[in-house]
Amino acid sequence: MPLPKAELHLHVEGTLEPELAFELAARNGVELPYAGTDELREAYRFEDLQSFLDLYYELMAVLLTEQDFADLADAYLARAAAQGVRHAEIFFDPQAHLARGVSMGTVVEGLWRALGRSEENHGISTRLILCFLRDESAESAFETLEAARPYLDRITGIGLDSAEVGHPPAKFRRVYEAAAALGLRRVAHAGEEGPPQYITEALDVLGVERVDHGLRCMEDPALVERLVRDRVPLTLCPLSNVRLRTVDTLADHPLPAMLDAGLLCTVNSDDPAYFGGYAGDNFAAVRRSLGLTEDRLRELARNSFLASFLEDDEERRARYLAEVAAYEFGDAVS
Ligand code: ADE
Ligand code: ZN
Repeated sequence: MPLPKAELHLHVEGTLEPELAFELAARNGVELPYAGTDELREAYRFEDLQSFLDLYYELMAVLLTEQDFADLADAYLARAAAQGVRHAEIFFDPQAHLARGVSMGTVVEGLWRALGRSEENHGISTRLILCFLRDESAESAFETLEAARPYLDRITGIGLDSAEVGHPPAKFRRVYEAAAALGLRRVAHAGEEGPPQYITEALDVLGVERVDHGLRCMEDPALVERLVRDRVPLTLCPLSNVRLRTVDTLADHPLPAMLDAGLLCTVNSDDPAYFGGYAGDNFAAVRRSLGLTEDRLRELARNSFLASFLEDDEERRARYLAEVAAYEFGDAVS
């Protein structure tokens, strides 16, 4: 049995496996510029975040109908359940779909077909987080929030993703203020490729409650001290960091140093179809490559539930935490 965990950094579009991409392409009459799944997998060699994003946006062309989004989310939930995920807070990128003529309703209703049945079908509770693309304008983010208004009962929070460098958090101050006024929770990617100042700005200007990645905080001791003091969760994605070359190898990952520093770290998969593994695979990889002890792995699982947006269901959070506390490790933990 895998270690129970929450997944807090997961782009649903990044769970599109090559097999499903071709299946949806055939269903929708979309031509993909790859001969088959093997050739597509060959394209999964990334230089940096942008080279990944280019493929990530290209493959979204196959996602057109509510059922496509439902199938995508359902396939993720099945894989996540098999790896011990008990709660998932799932990002989606509506601007990438609106730009292709796919409506907000199609995306949210489609995802909801899977998320609304996730507890019965997969034993996973879920939340949905709408991400703004930071390489698009602040006005576009505002229009996206407006388009999401009819669906806000299904959306827990907002996030900020896509190409980081050159797109500092402050660009999105107003839309984050508007989202906060609507009662939405706030997170943002910061310090993945961008400098530690982007993390500080996300906290100070956007009022984020969690930082996605946050890896580069380690370059700024005063920032680390602040994140530790304020118990700001970081949603780390170790296999993603290796594939996007923000760290050289998994053995070089700063996760052990971050835990030693007292940071509230969590381990997540980011875009598992592209980066070689789901949440449990990330746990298994850091256990193997970084020699994390069982106490450390349990701490990571515990942190994931502490950092989750389960304030509206503390009873459930307590249940999940009890599962983590009672967990007995075997050799094949994931
Ligand atoms: N969109 C999907 N995955 C992302 C990542 N790791 N960083 C920024 N934007 C993303
Ligand atoms: Zn991400």
